[in-house]
Amino acid sequence: MTRILTITNQKGGVGKTTTTINLASALKHQGYKVLIIDMDPQGNLSFCANAETVLSATIYEVLKGEVKLQHAIQRTAIIDIVAANILLSGIEMEYTQSGREFLLRNALQNIRPYYDYILIDTPPGLGILTINAMSACNGILIPMVADIFSLQGITQLHETVQQVRKYSNPNCTIEGVILNKYNDRVYLNREVKGTAELVLNDLKLKLFDTSIRSSIKVAEAQSSQQDLFDLIKQGDVAQDYLNLVEEILQGETHVQ
Ligand SMILES: Nc1ncnc2c1ncn2[C@@H]1O[C@H](COP(=O)(O)OP(=O)(O)OP(=O)(O)O)[C@@H](O)[C@H]1O
Ligand SMILES: [Mg+2]
Repeated sequence: MTRILTITNQKGGVGKTTTTINLASALKHQGYKVLIIDMDPQGNLSFCANAETVLSATIYEVLKGEVKLQHAIQRTAIIDIVAANILLSGIEMEYTQSGREFLLRNALQNIRPYYDYILIDTPPGLGILTINAMSACNGILIPMVADIFSLQGITQLHETVQQVRKYSNPNCTIEGVILNKYNDRVYLNREVKGTAELVLNDLKLKLFDTSIRSSIKVAEAQSSQQDLFDLIKQGDVAQDYLNLVEEILQGETHVQ
């Protein structure tokens, strides 16, 4: 059964795009068929995957119903991707009628049998693009960084997911929270992790045992548009992503 995972956090710069691309690569290296979808008009995921954003059809045309999703998939050296560009920001203004939260879910219907995993990157904020991604998925992954502002946003995000479960996608569950750019040697990081455990426990949310460490290799892979696992065959941060995949797979057996 295809798993559709939305990577989201309304806070900017916490690692949504980074988690999406590297988790997708890690899953691909484990032998799974993976598609990633860029739902952010910034197009950062499309850049990381070395996708064409001007000459090819993007998720914008797909959501508008002008192009079928399967015709917007680009197969780059890194991954299969449906790209995005700035035009995507128009969806908010162009669609005001009810049912607009299901544009992505409807578009994904025909493609599901071809992939084991579909990972969706979202923009910062809780607008209609994020709601579309939440309404289309089975599971939500929340990357956060170990600072106090990130933690404050989690309660609001949790409430938004409850609303989505109530009104548009009763089957979607929060798989867990991933601490990103984590440095065990920094006291404040450890302290926020401790507080995060308490806050998440109260909300009945799981904090993944695996944290993703801060590594310059992550940024290097992105700026040179390379697969992290080609750049560093083995290495601490690559191992973090493989461990995270392992944990996500284990979680699925509990769900089913
Ligand atoms: N584990 C990591 N180690 C080092 N740098 C990282 C790591 N994760 C993310 N970064 C860097 O942090 C910055 C923000 O990451 P990213 O773009 O993935 O966040 P985002 O949540 O997608 O941001 P936005 O809200 O703008 O979409 C990027 O420059 C990225 O290279
Ligand atoms: Mg991003």
